[in-house]
Amino acid sequence: MRRKLWLVMGVVALAALSVSCVSNASQDALKPQGPYAQEINNLFTSVFWIAAAIFFLVEGVLVLFVVKYRHRMGRTEIPPQIHGNTRLEIAWTILPALILAGVAVPTVATIWDLAGKPTGDVMHVTVIGHQFWWEYRYTDPDMKTASGNPITTANVMVIPENKTVYLSIEAEPKDIPVGETVIHSFWIPELAGTQDAVPGRTNHIYMQADHPGTYWGQCKELCGLSHANMRTKVVAETATDFATWVAAQQAPAARSGDLLAQRGAEVFAGGQCILCHTIDGLQTAAGNPVAGIGGPNLTHFASRDCFAGCTFRTNPDELRKWLADPPARKPGAAMPNYHLSEDQINALVAYLLSLN
Ligand code: CUA
Repeated sequence: MRRKLWLVMGVVALAALSVSCVSNASQDALKPQGPYAQEINNLFTSVFWIAAAIFFLVEGVLVLFVVKYRHRMGRTEIPPQIHGNTRLEIAWTILPALILAGVAVPTVATIWDLAGKPTGDVMHVTVIGHQFWWEYRYTDPDMKTASGNPITTANVMVIPENKTVYLSIEAEPKDIPVGETVIHSFWIPELAGTQDAVPGRTNHIYMQADHPGTYWGQCKELCGLSHANMRTKVVAETATDFATWVAAQQAPAARSGDLLAQRGAEVFAGGQCILCHTIDGLQTAAGNPVAGIGGPNLTHFASRDCFAGCTFRTNPDELRKWLADPPARKPGAAMPNYHLSEDQINALVAYLLSLN
């Protein structure tokens, strides 16, 4: 039994050690890629070294005393005791208090600094945690689509480099017919700290990327069966690339000349898909806009390289598997298995991949 315990502990320690050596960790808060993540990392680093120094000091003295005052043959007397030494006791009460007070100064300053509302040229994005994926709404006036709604994406948030993005973080409202209303937590470790997405509340945080790149994130609050599948990514682009992206997102959905894709649009607009999904520019047979709520807005679906909580790559194979049985691919997914036929799935895949 004892041996087994040691074995398990050894394996766990080895696993932790090997993970710490990963060189291309994509969610590494210790490698900040923007000023706000940097600020948090600076605080962490200084507090860490203070704590490390205290740890080695205390453990060092402990080991020293254990060795020095250990029981030896022939030692019959107990060494002098310090119990009741007022001076010593006052010293080791005040000293830790002073150290903690010293640590509190930069900590509180950083908290206040990061809690303030940024000024100047700031982009606003509302982040909504769903079960189990993230929705992004670009709420600035110049970010409206042709139909007058905010540009809305899912799973992938595109931002310009070197620009502060002020996030308003919410959770799926109760009136949405799918999923459950639970707490999530939004975290892009390389760009910012973490912030909870709480139903009925709006929390704020801001982030910024110094360079173009892809920054992975993960829901950080246990929220149900597919909590681990609730991933996301932030893609930072140069100002020019970002402007191109915005223009593309503002346009209504592409109309493909491909016959299979056209058939897919019919399947989409005539089926259950429209209950939860919006596709700007697509209409039902009765001429109504396709504007479902609760599921991801799919207007420019193919412009995002991952879907369903960034768990799957946007390609025909993954899409086919997903449409055949969503809850089997992602436990607890709000999208049910509609038992689509092979033909319907092929048509939907062609249509969805035409939406770039
Ligand atoms: Cu959402 Cu964990």
